[in-house]
Amino acid sequence: MILITGGAGYIGAHVALELMNKDEDVLILDNLCNSQRSAIDRISTLAGRRPGFVQGDVRNRHLLDTLLRDYPVDAVVHCAGLKAVGESVHEPLRYYDNNVGGSLTLCQAMAQAGVFTLVFSSSATVYGDCTTMPINESCATGQPTNPYGMSKLMAENIMKSVASSDPRWSIGLLRYFNPIGAHPSGLLGEAPLNQPNNLLPYLLQVASGQREALSVFGTDYATPDGTGVRDYIHIVDLAQGHTCALEALGQRSGVNIWNLGTGRGYSVLELVSAFERVSGVPIPLAFKARRPGDVTCCWADPQKAADELAWRARHSLETMLADAWRWQCNQLQTEWVQQAN
Ligand code: NAD
Ligand code: UD1
Repeated sequence: MILITGGAGYIGAHVALELMNKDEDVLILDNLCNSQRSAIDRISTLAGRRPGFVQGDVRNRHLLDTLLRDYPVDAVVHCAGLKAVGESVHEPLRYYDNNVGGSLTLCQAMAQAGVFTLVFSSSATVYGDCTTMPINESCATGQPTNPYGMSKLMAENIMKSVASSDPRWSIGLLRYFNPIGAHPSGLLGEAPLNQPNNLLPYLLQVASGQREALSVFGTDYATPDGTGVRDYIHIVDLAQGHTCALEALGQRSGVNIWNLGTGRGYSVLELVSAFERVSGVPIPLAFKARRPGDVTCCWADPQKAADELAWRARHSLETMLADAWRWQCNQLQTEWVQQAN
């Protein structure tokens, strides 16, 4: 059985579904601070059976001890965390407490229970302002420009220390680039509870008329069209990276770092044009100054994951955008039906 912390969230729910599709038993632990119980129903519908679900906090040591005693957990995928960069600047202690404290408590409980296989949701943000593209795993980690990024780097460092203290540990640090898109069914996707900060969730709300215009942060970057370039990866490809990592960790020990990206960067304007083509919906733009803390370019060298995990991202940018749009339209329809009743 695989325990997924944060498994009701955007990434965790897709990981849960992928694992269940591979006949794994899944137990989800989530405090629902940024997700809803209905995600569990959606996973169940798509998987054809229910994952185990416990509403609770990953910082609750007693709860973790009980879960690891009562369920036959072989490995943990640790997705639980807070992820809003701007919020982390204003509430650093909440971010360190949740993201670092949660990782620490989880590692302590796992060691005590004798569960030593762990996959961690890390981020390309740990590379800081790396200027050589593409970024491979041997690039030094930089100095993240915000407490969110710092909390990811600190959690990685805790896991590295833990792994070098005891050879029974087998840990995968998955450094995600920019996950976007939704499950092709339109039933699972990202559902931000507050105003979105990331590009695609914001764009989707503009496309569906909930917001007036998409701000383009910075038009003077040293890129072909002046806007920032990122490596967008389909959420289903990303989720499959976790199942491949869990498989590979069975034959490995220590810490293993894998980039999960496509290896191809797109600018903000390229992404917007592709979305307009795919959806037929024009997106009003508002050109703005650079957003503090943003890097010019960031894309992965995914070769290590290809060699060691036999994994590569397969979906095109157009598919990511079409799937995200289908999810957004489905959600709006559901809201209308609920309001009408
Ligand atoms: P999300 O907010 O949709 O999911 C996180 C889930 O964790 C939520 O369901 C939330 O309720 C839960 N959670 C938070 N704190 C918890 C706690 N203390 N105890 C139990 N549950 C808790 O975010 P996501 O996009 O699915 O991200 C998952 C992980 O991946 C996060 O750790 C995030 O930092 C990391 N990550 C995300 C991205 C991205 O672009 N989405 C990029 C890099 C890394
Ligand atoms: C951001 C975080 C990163 C985190 C990731 C997932 C920062 C500096 N980095 O990545 O740490 O892991 O989200 O949560 O916040 N853009 C616009 N208009 C918008 C939103 C974004 O032009 O309304 C641009 C940005 O300037 C950037 C690109 O779109 O060039 C992607 O932005 P975003 O989706 O926020 O992701 P990152 O900044 O790459």
